[in-house]
Amino acid sequence: MTDRTDCQTVLIVFGTRPEAIKMFPVVHALRGDPRFRVRVCISAQHRGMLDQVMAIAGITADHDLDLMRPDQTLDALTAALLTGLGGVMDAEKPDWVVVQGDTATAMAGAMAAYYRKIRVAHVEAGLRSHNIYHPWPEEVNRKIIGTIAALHFAPTQTAADALLAENVAADTIHVTGNTVIDALQWVTRKIADEPALAGGLRELEARFAGRRIIGVTSHRRENFGGGLEAIATAIRTIAARPDVALIFPVHPNPNVRRVMAAELAGLDNVALIEPLDYPHFARLLGMAEIMLTDSGGVQEEAPALGKPVLVMREATERPEGVAAGTAKLVGTDPVRIVSEIFTLLDDKAAYSAMARAHNPFGDGQSAPRIMELLVNAG
Ligand code: UD1
Ligand code: UDP
Repeated sequence: MTDRTDCQTVLIVFGTRPEAIKMFPVVHALRGDPRFRVRVCISAQHRGMLDQVMAIAGITADHDLDLMRPDQTLDALTAALLTGLGGVMDAEKPDWVVVQGDTATAMAGAMAAYYRKIRVAHVEAGLRSHNIYHPWPEEVNRKIIGTIAALHFAPTQTAADALLAENVAADTIHVTGNTVIDALQWVTRKIADEPALAGGLRELEARFAGRRIIGVTSHRRENFGGGLEAIATAIRTIAARPDVALIFPVHPNPNVRRVMAAELAGLDNVALIEPLDYPHFARLLGMAEIMLTDSGGVQEEAPALGKPVLVMREATERPEGVAAGTAKLVGTDPVRIVSEIFTLLDDKAAYSAMARAHNPFGDGQSAPRIMELLVNAG
């Protein structure tokens, strides 16, 4: 182990696209500081979508567990994560393990660290929907991490309050903002320097010129089956309007692909496309008049850009966007989704009431704050 007074070894663990997006600003900050020896371990719970982020952020992993399997089950994934991440921790003997959010990788990373009595720092701590099946299994994953962590980096005061209500020690909770805003600002600057990085949507822009763009994403496990079919029905109905076009980068989870390919293929104004890398997704956020999503991260990015976001979930752990008026929970009932979309398309006042840039999730300085808090914790 390195001398703690001199330089701390920090093992940063992640495995999915959103974790990589929210963790790369932390990797950048810590890697640039001599007070840390930074080791990056990717579980590769996601492969292609994770690699897209690693490439754009310029991060290479010190350990790659390469754990993605087609249509992997939660129990098989979790078992492989625990033993794989445990092995890396035994080899690296870090002072800190840093995990982000609420995925299986983050939960197993925290558990494996706990089994070795290694301190855990949790980025994006304290999000709670108070419903263990919405989102599933993330609500329980983040509660487990919250029980283990020695440092909780809450993105907002609401998240910090949720931890306090669970009797987490106040001096271990810090409101840092959400690193997704650091990531979004970073990628926006990168695109400004190098516009070609986000130039790959030109063909779609030309194809849909004159139409009003709606960006769509959907992947939540609790929506598999009936929920996804209902979402597809809503999209078909919206697409019956000739003045709109829907651009839908489809999550590679086979449960999502099957439904969307069966229900939406062949519609002129629905583009089912491969997952976009982060610069191109940022471009889509810019092009879209409305975002329709069940994603966590998109609920944070859209308000920052003043894009109305309709959230296809029953509950959200991100009430800040709803309180700010930029996000609205619409569930998965197709009648409700269509009616909310049509209201935004047809009622200018309703649209401008939602389309106000508002940033309850951070100021883009979360990663440097997290770095200093890790230094101070010693
Ligand atoms: C996971 C997280 C979820 C997060 C989401 C972000 C868990 C339990 N779920 O869900 O919290 O919101 O990532 O996207 O941790 N696949 C590919 N290529 C990829 C990624 C996935 O083919 O790059 C396919 C594989 O068949 C894989 C399946 O998608 O088995 C599911 O991946 P998994 O990580 O288990 O769950 P997600 O639904 O992506
Ligand atoms: N995203 C992306 N390309 C896409 C779709 C999403 O880069 O094709 C980004 C998006 O900007 C956000 C993150 O991926 O930062 C959200 O990931 P996802 O919806 O998979 O997971 P969640 O946030 O729901 O956990």
